[in-house]
Amino acid sequence: MSHTQIGLGLAAIGRPQYINLRQETDPDKSEAFYRKRAFTILSFAYDHGIRHFDTAPSYGKGEEYLQQWYRNNPFKDLSLSTKWGYTYVANWDLGYSKPHEIKEHSKNKLKEQWEVSKHLLPALKTYQIHSATFESGVLENREVLQELNNIKNKTGLKIGLSTSGIQQNEILKYASQIRIDGELLFESFQVTYNLLELSTHEMLTALIEKGKTIIIKEALANGRVFRNEGYGHYSELVTLMENLSEKYKVSVDAIGLRFVMDHLEPALVLSGASTKIQLEQNLKALKFKLQPQELDQLKRYAVDSDFYWNERKNLEWN
Ligand SMILES: NC(=O)c1ccc[n+]([C@@H]2O[C@H](COP(=O)([O-])OP(=O)(O)OC[C@H]3O[C@@H](n4cnc5c(N)ncnc54)[C@H](OP(=O)(O)O)[C@@H]3O)[C@@H](O)[C@H]2O)c1
Repeated sequence: MSHTQIGLGLAAIGRPQYINLRQETDPDKSEAFYRKRAFTILSFAYDHGIRHFDTAPSYGKGEEYLQQWYRNNPFKDLSLSTKWGYTYVANWDLGYSKPHEIKEHSKNKLKEQWEVSKHLLPALKTYQIHSATFESGVLENREVLQELNNIKNKTGLKIGLSTSGIQQNEILKYASQIRIDGELLFESFQVTYNLLELSTHEMLTALIEKGKTIIIKEALANGRVFRNEGYGHYSELVTLMENLSEKYKVSVDAIGLRFVMDHLEPALVLSGASTKIQLEQNLKALKFKLQPQELDQLKRYAVDSDFYWNERKNLEWN
C-alpha cells in the first residue's frame, strides 16, 4: 500500500452551494443544518482515522466550523491546512447569481485573513495561497512573500499554495524556485490531479522526489468521473471504473481516489465528501490497491488540459 493518506476538504461542507455536480440535493439548506452536519462529519472523519482537514476563509462557514470543532476537540495529532486570498460573498443567499468568492491576493487581505486563521494553531500546519496565478501577481509580490516568510519563521508552519487551471505546471515550476532570505519559501503544493487531468504528473513526481508535500484536490474531477447524463463523453471511463468497483467491492469514488494514490503516491488526497456516507465510501480507497495494468488502462482516459479546464469553468454553483 502507498503511504498516501486521505484528508477531508471543507469546500462542500461549509456552504449551501458549490460547483460540484450534485447527484443528490441536501434535504435542508439552512445554516443550522450545515453547522450540525459539519460537526458530525468532522467527528466521524476523526473516528475513522482522518487527521488532515483542509479549509479556506472562502468556503462559506467552513473555516469557522473547523475552528469551533477543533476548540471542542483539541486532538494533538491533527494536521490542518487553510488558505488566504479569497473571500466568500454569497452570504448564504441561494439565488446569488454573481461569483460566490472574490479573489484578492494583497498584503492587506493576507493580514486580515491570517488574524482569523491563526486561531487554528497549534493544529494548523500548512498555510497556503489560495489558487496562486501569474495574473494576480502574488508570486512576484515581495511584500506578500516576505509576510508569508515572517509567518513561517514565527510559527513553524509550512507555506504552500494551491493551483487551478491550465497553467498549473508553470506555476508549480515558478513557485517551487522562489527563495526568501536564501531559503525556498514553498514546501507544500495543493494541485488538481485526477483521472481526467494528469498534465502535472511529471512535475509532481519531481517535487515529491525533492521532498515537497503534495496535496491532491479535485481528485474526482468535481463529480465528472461518475455516470452522468451531461458527461456522456466519459462513459467508457465510467464503465471501466464501474467494472473495477465491482471487482474490488467498493464504489466508483474509491476507484478514482485509489487511482491517484497508486499512480502518483502523493502525501495526501483530499476527499470532497459532503456527507458521512460519501466519506465512508471514499475511505474504502485505503483498503485495496490497483494493479499496474489497471492503472495503465485508466490513465488512457485523461483529456487535454485545455478541454478539462474549459469544462471546469462551465460548472455551475448548485
Ligand atoms: N483552489 C483550491 O484551493 C481548491 C479548489 C477545489 C478544491 N479544493 C480542496 O479540495 C477538496 C476536495 O475537492 P472537491 O470536493 O472540489 O473535488 P472532488 O473531490 O473532485 O469532488 C467531489 C465530487 O465527488 C462526489 N462524490 C464524493 N464521494 C462520492 C460518493 N461516495 N458517491 C458519489 N459521489 C461522490 C461529490 O458529490 P456531491 O456533489 O454530491 O457532493 C462531488 O461531486 C475541497 O474540499 C477543498 O478542500 C481546493
